[in-house]
Amino acid sequence: MSHDGANEALADTSSTLSSDGKILQACKDEFKSNFNLNSFKFTHTLHQSGLFEIPRIAQVARRMIDRPGSFTALNFSQGTVASKFSASPKDARLDDTIARLGESGTWVKLTCAQNYDAEYAQVLDTVTSELESLSGWPLHRDITWVSMTLLLSSPKIATPFHIDHETNFLFQLQGSKDVCLFPPNDRELLTDKEIETYYSGNFEAALYRRELQDRGTVYRLAPGEVVHNPSLAPHWVKNDDNISVSISINYCLKPLDARARVYQANYILRSMGMHPLPPGLSPMRDRVKRTVLSTLEHRNPKSFSDVIHTPINRLRSPLKAVRRLVRH
Ligand SMILES: [Fe+2]
Repeated sequence: MSHDGANEALADTSSTLSSDGKILQACKDEFKSNFNLNSFKFTHTLHQSGLFEIPRIAQVARRMIDRPGSFTALNFSQGTVASKFSASPKDARLDDTIARLGESGTWVKLTCAQNYDAEYAQVLDTVTSELESLSGWPLHRDITWVSMTLLLSSPKIATPFHIDHETNFLFQLQGSKDVCLFPPNDRELLTDKEIETYYSGNFEAALYRRELQDRGTVYRLAPGEVVHNPSLAPHWVKNDDNISVSISINYCLKPLDARARVYQANYILRSMGMHPLPPGLSPMRDRVKRTVLSTLEHRNPKSFSDVIHTPINRLRSPLKAVRRLVRH
């Protein structure tokens, strides 16, 4: 890990803490009963820390320029919540893009910022410990991959409807926006087949059904507020007429990865013409699917894709070879 700012004096992080010495303020009971099941909102103090101002984020972005895959900059000026990420052109110059956020229709995503700034790593560690205490979930034990992702967007940008494997906390730091969070277990809103396709590597598999929009909850997010979005809960975001800066903290956790293996096995079975049972209905079948896929896991994963996609990619290659043989 290299830090241009390694010699900078550490910021006074005490200003990030509330009177009880914590970054997060939330009701422990609500947290425990809703964590990874339902969305909910609480508050934080990171917007007061001075660590996430745009010039500092631009410095971090400069350290990422030589690392393809660590950042995405898209032009979303024509996008809506029903658009697809892949339909938006890429912005080539990350520095310029960040400097022109106020005037351009841009969405910038900096992944794993904790690897490029020691103080960000410190904040992530503290937040994770506080989340562990609030949720009662042994996060440190179960994390297989974590990203502190910085999200910057131009005024009035819409982030399209999509799902994520990770369980997520979205912290608002600058500007305000509407975040619409849908329930994670509604299989009309998001079908098993769409989830299987997502876990096969298609990030855009979730289809926005306008007629089901009223099943979502719109949270108005202002600086100092944070929402929790459970794994696989569909969502979209609409920025106000202001530059928005947010931190999205995403955790891959062992039980979530284990469920992903079942969906991946089901993707293969469905592609062979079968009608597989979704996870949770047959513990025995789930175990068999998990066991088969788990033997193909990456032994030393370094990225989200290593953690999530390696087993299905390894399984798919020999299957493709067999299909080619059968065809000839
Ligand atoms: Fe997301």
